[in-house]
Amino acid sequence: MLLIDFPMLLADKNATFWFPPAASTFAADIDWLYMVILYISIFFFVLVVGAMVLFAIKYRRRPGYEGDSRPLHNNALEITWTVIPSLIVCWIFAEGVNGYMDMMRPPVDTIDINVTARQWDWSFQYPNGAISDQLHIPNNRAILLNMRSEDVLHAFYVPAFRVKSDVVPGRVTTMWFQPILEGEFDLFCAEYCGTDHSRMRGKVVVQTPEEFARWLEDENVESMAQRGRRHVEALGCLKCHGQTQASSATQVQIGPPLTGLYGSRVPLSDGEFVQADDSYIRRALLDPRSQTRAGFAGVMPSYDGQLDPQQIMEITAYIRSIADATGPLAGPGTPLDQREEQAP
Ligand code: CUA
Repeated sequence: MLLIDFPMLLADKNATFWFPPAASTFAADIDWLYMVILYISIFFFVLVVGAMVLFAIKYRRRPGYEGDSRPLHNNALEITWTVIPSLIVCWIFAEGVNGYMDMMRPPVDTIDINVTARQWDWSFQYPNGAISDQLHIPNNRAILLNMRSEDVLHAFYVPAFRVKSDVVPGRVTTMWFQPILEGEFDLFCAEYCGTDHSRMRGKVVVQTPEEFARWLEDENVESMAQRGRRHVEALGCLKCHGQTQASSATQVQIGPPLTGLYGSRVPLSDGEFVQADDSYIRRALLDPRSQTRAGFAGVMPSYDGQLDPQQIMEITAYIRSIADATGPLAGPGTPLDQREEQAP
């Protein structure tokens, strides 16, 4: 492209003097139209200012020169400099409408991601339910964003993709694009939204489809577990289930600890043993009396009617994530990491 490149100014080799990297399918058309408009403007600027300077010198007041003070009119000239710019402007408008329609009409095979904007951060939810604060997307796939705001007006702006859209409270705005470059790109909030507006920034991570699939899988376990932990805390489960096994010698426990529970063999009060798996946890939440555990004084109340299937799955994911932990309040992240290290 017709560009002046100043390599020292460019941290990114894919960027140009005028633009950040052209990282989406929209970028080439938008940059092309931008450059065309820029060069048309430069052409007319030079033409008009050049003529002005030339005439100022040629027709200046000087001894012996008689100026002509009659106003002149030239029909051909008037029509030329009205019609040509009008045609150019109409053509620019048509090109703009074309590009706008492309951006308004997503293809059918998009990956849909929910975007939530709030003072002052972004969160992204993927089709499998995983939530992250950086937007991860696979390269060369059409992405559709369904965007909501929890509070005030924000705007989703990724210069490398050449896309920007307001995120309006009380409605869902949609936007699509298709990345063509792998890497990390800046995300900005482009609508003044309060004191920390300038810090409402994020990252878009474009990965190979394989990397993205792997990331999404890990992320799901992680975020399901994190949400499960929130439910466990909100329901007050840890009042009875919070102690460690080590402390059981010195104090009477109301309920068994959740750490290390998942996958263990659980002794029941009728002398049987059960495996602490997903259905055991589900039964423990909905019908705890069907499997009272040996050695504990308290009887757990049923949470039937208070938990939906998704929440039960999330609580199970949390309990699974602390299967190898020993502390009373282990978070979901640590034991998973430990397990990865231990794996051969
Ligand atoms: Cu959000 Cu500015």
